[in-house]
Amino acid sequence: MSVLVTGGCGYIGSHTCVELLNRNYDVVIVDNLSNSKRSVVDKIEEITHKNVKFYEDDVCDKDALRKIFNENKIDMVIHFAGFKAVGESVLNPMKYYRNNLVSTICLCEVMKEYNCKNLVFSSSATVYGTPRRVPIKETAHLSTTNPYGTTKLFIERILTDLYKSDNEWNIVLLRYFNPIGAHESGLIGEDPNGIPNNLMPYIVKVATHELNELSVFGNDYNTKDGTGVRDYIHVVDLAIGHVKAIEKINKSKGLFIYNLGTGKGYSVLEVLNTFMKVNNVDVKYKIVGRRSGDVASCYANPEKALKGLGFKTTKNLEEMCRDAYNFAIKNK
Ligand code: WQD
Repeated sequence: MSVLVTGGCGYIGSHTCVELLNRNYDVVIVDNLSNSKRSVVDKIEEITHKNVKFYEDDVCDKDALRKIFNENKIDMVIHFAGFKAVGESVLNPMKYYRNNLVSTICLCEVMKEYNCKNLVFSSSATVYGTPRRVPIKETAHLSTTNPYGTTKLFIERILTDLYKSDNEWNIVLLRYFNPIGAHESGLIGEDPNGIPNNLMPYIVKVATHELNELSVFGNDYNTKDGTGVRDYIHVVDLAIGHVKAIEKINKSKGLFIYNLGTGKGYSVLEVLNTFMKVNNVDVKYKIVGRRSGDVASCYANPEKALKGLGFKTTKNLEEMCRDAYNFAIKNK
């Protein structure tokens, strides 16, 4: 079984390629390397002792996609490729709408040309916007607060309409919560360009003295310690969730939507203290004002993914913190 992974050199994409290869799927990666490195392909091969076919192309380039489908018998596609920085999407929405929507439409059009109608899409819990209640079920109200999140919501709608127009399509929409951590080898992990927006990569850069101090965005939320609560999921657990989605498509026909989270919420200070304890490092921080757009609490109800995919996370917060730091130390 051959799986085309768009954005396969990225953080979640590369971890998913490892889990697919470990289960004897053939993997083809297409990635334009706009937010990732070519060396990740070598790391994936080093971890799995398997070969990967790599194409440095843009998913918006239909001829490049046709070449991939001509040269490989692709049975399924997992679509990660897309811009994902919330802040940047607010400053440059057209870049996000053009890239994320056009790439998905081009991909689906070429897939149809080659009668490949099995697709797993990398969506996000950001489609829930400000949750009205937690834990969040897949039936919760959808509303987005930034262009990045809106591209994910629009793509979900596009894929739903595609399925309604032709129910030969088999589509799984995966709504991730907060992926953190890294593969235990330390060979692949979260390697953002520039100053990180997200909590864990920022903590890691302070712990490795690349940045001076963490700003904790607000401690006056209605949460256990006043700081924001999120559902952190180990990126390897998340990757395995994608394998489960591929297996779902092999067994069942239709369009399916699942949250991928642990169902547990941890506050910023809980993450920070756990990180310092398990890694025996000090991370300097200060409490500052809230970040606009942030919500107090956001965590998943994971029951549907357990029932529908047989998916359950296995890694705890300590492992997430240890693996995140291990990757940073090994790739300083
Ligand atoms: C987590 C918590 C912050 C940084 C984002 C995207 C979402 C998804 C996951 C793609 C919050 C606090 C953070 C910092 C802090 N990405 N924080 N200081 O905002 O829950 O979700 O990443 O799909 O789309 O919105 O993640 O890691 O930015 O923040 O105090 O320097 O950490 O306030 O409570 P978030 P995050």
